[in-house]
Amino acid sequence: MCGIVGYIGNKQAKDVVIKGLKRLEYRGYDSAGVAVINGALSVKKCKGKVSVLEKKLGTSENGNIGIGHTRWATHGEPNDINSHPHTSTTGKLAVVHNGIIENYGALKQKLQKEGYEFYSETDTEIVAKLIENMMDKNPGLDLEDAVRLSLVQINGTYGLAILHEDHPDKIIVARKGSPLLIGVGEGEMLVASDASAVAEYTDKVVYLDDGELAVITKDDYQVLNSHDIELTKEVHELAVSLEEIEKGGYPFFMLKEIFEQPKTVADCLRGRLNVEEGTINLGGLSKVTEELKNAKRIIIAACGTSWHSGLVGEYLFEWLAKIPVEVEYASEFRYKDPILGEGDVVFVISQSGETADTLAAMREAKEKGATTLGIVNVVGSTIARESDGGVYLHAGPEIGVASTKAFTGQVTVLILIALKMAQLRNTITEEKSKRLIKALSEIPEKIAETLKHSDEVKRIADLFTYAPNFLYLGRSYSFPVALEGALKLKEISYIHAEGYPAAEMKHGPIALIDDMMPVVVIAATNHTSDKMVSNIEEVRARKGRIIAVTSPENKEVKELAEFNCTIPETEDELTPLLSVIPLQLLSYYIAVNRGCNVDQPRNLAKSVTVE
Ligand code: F6R
Repeated sequence: MCGIVGYIGNKQAKDVVIKGLKRLEYRGYDSAGVAVINGALSVKKCKGKVSVLEKKLGTSENGNIGIGHTRWATHGEPNDINSHPHTSTTGKLAVVHNGIIENYGALKQKLQKEGYEFYSETDTEIVAKLIENMMDKNPGLDLEDAVRLSLVQINGTYGLAILHEDHPDKIIVARKGSPLLIGVGEGEMLVASDASAVAEYTDKVVYLDDGELAVITKDDYQVLNSHDIELTKEVHELAVSLEEIEKGGYPFFMLKEIFEQPKTVADCLRGRLNVEEGTINLGGLSKVTEELKNAKRIIIAACGTSWHSGLVGEYLFEWLAKIPVEVEYASEFRYKDPILGEGDVVFVISQSGETADTLAAMREAKEKGATTLGIVNVVGSTIARESDGGVYLHAGPEIGVASTKAFTGQVTVLILIALKMAQLRNTITEEKSKRLIKALSEIPEKIAETLKHSDEVKRIADLFTYAPNFLYLGRSYSFPVALEGALKLKEISYIHAEGYPAAEMKHGPIALIDDMMPVVVIAATNHTSDKMVSNIEEVRARKGRIIAVTSPENKEVKELAEFNCTIPETEDELTPLLSVIPLQLLSYYIAVNRGCNVDQPRNLAKSVTVE
């Protein structure tokens, strides 16, 4: 969602902030702005990309202390006025904000009655005016105290960075519900909502937790809790390299990330599989072995692509570990007043580890006494820190907004966990377990083989670039893949697409099929192959254009389909790791053909930190 960067040190703050904002641009990108102090506070902001803002900066934005923001609009349309930073009436105080102030309407009315005027439609402006009001009423109050006392009045979520012209030696930051970290340098400090913005300058970071406020000076930082008590925070070593956050010769991050998958899945498996012995080692779950062994029910909560991998998990856990599973939209979980009891294990799946709805679902489950486990990519993210245990994907930073390598990472982790649980619960034979573990160790190679067929996918993409609708069908493990394929296409190419369980097609969507309708059939060889053939015949009978994702061994499907995307054979349970690859490529090539900005699709943001 919105990105925040701040700098204090000896460098030109605007240079560091602009560079950081460019790295965060994937999170939210309808407008951007900076505030710098050099004697006086200077603010520049505008609608558009960070590069547009960069061109507007001049010598008046010189200075060694500054904050910046890249916005994903929540309150008020993207325009110059609504862009952050927002300022106090005097223009001495500037605020950048990620999150939503839920009671901003009431606060605004209160301040208006006291004579404050507002220039924007944002909820953020209220923060600037509230702090100003606190300072006006309490002359001599320290900036950090004014911020702390103002925040007490706010309901909602925030990651905030604040500058004041009369306090030119410090940045105040505060967090509740939106990520923030301090980059600890030598003679300089940074703040950011995401580690990629500071990775170039330091590998030492301090993650803020909810309710914390920090006072950051050039040489030091002080973190305080909501009772104004100073905390000793752990300094973490950053696990992000510069190479990982650059495009490395690819035109888009998404393509780089698709092609990285043989490596990211191998990284995810590294040290966790012993093929010879048929064992699985998941250190992050060692504390909850008993809970996993005795679990009576698994609940998976997630959003978007992570929810789709959760659906793959449902098949895996039920097939392998023989345990009932419910997969929940994290955003709805809380509103059901979920009934949780002994024996319930809740997995939350999140690439970013910061998705507001997923985090809220996890906290709800925790509060109700369930064991909560995170399947997360971003090391040190809030979900990773707050869960009772979990497994990292080790996929490296995913920067393209459309999730690709995170999906295969999540499915890989779910396979590992399902196998581990099956072994613990004696629901799998040694022979089958060893066969699956061996097959899993071969998956990175098979993904590489699948990627070799990218030209085949490109040719199909060229033919269907302007199709207005797509239907994706799959059964069993391939059904969530159908949903994921449809999501990928709609989010980056803006083509309407729907995923369905193949048999469900007859109950409605079949009405859409005519000779203009591309129907992508995920037909990995498995126990549903025969039934898939019948569904393909049904589509063919209505002249639908069949694009099959299948293996050369699946001759019947191959012959019936008009177009084929080739994947190698593997064990049934592992097929999502291969069948999703052509679908990622198909959506990528179509989006590029349509001139879409693949990495930064309209209206979307990478990490959805508002509910
Ligand atoms: C789709 C996509 C989103 C995310 C969703 C959850 O390509 O990226 O649907 O999967 O916003 O995000 P995380 O996994 O970070 O919780």
